Amino acid sequence: MKTLIQLVVNGETVEAAVEPNHTLAQFLREDLGLTGTKHGCGVGDCGACTVILDGKPVNSCLVLAVQARGREVLTIEGLAENGKLHPIQQAFVDKGAIQCGFCSPGMILAAKALLEQNPKPTELEIRTAISGNLCRCTGYQKIVEAIQEAAGSMLGKGGVVK
Ligand code: FES
Ligand code: FES
Repeated sequence: MKTLIQLVVNGETVEAAVEPNHTLAQFLREDLGLTGTKHGCGVGDCGACTVILDGKPVNSCLVLAVQARGREVLTIEGLAENGKLHPIQQAFVDKGAIQCGFCSPGMILAAKALLEQNPKPTELEIRTAISGNLCRCTGYQKIVEAIQEAAGSMLGKGGVVK
């Protein structure tokens, strides 16, 4: 039997009836049409389905939609503002960190969660933060460089994250 849930997705309150066994990834993609969240392995190994739940990156294939009730979810669709890419998205484009792009939403959201907690991460901290996100295309170096560049551009002259 479906359960009614209410949650906030990309700043908007959403109410929907969901199957108790549907994952948050299924809910976002199938019910809300937010297909930027990718479905890869389905078992928590690849990170393609990463979204930010109450400020923390999670594998949305491992979270039930009902577990997100009353919580805040940020997906890749919620990052750009007024048609302008988020600095992390822009840095991925500029650095050539996207090839097939399947891993990119998860990588970018993992990076966003990192930079909010730690605006000046070391290369090791960046590599650790994205260690749950698999990419078969870029060899990670360009992704790491993109996150380093984004960290720089998100820090204002006064060292404040923008
Ligand atoms: S699809 Fe969720 S971790 Fe791979
Ligand atoms: S760009 Fe293809 S998997 Fe990462």
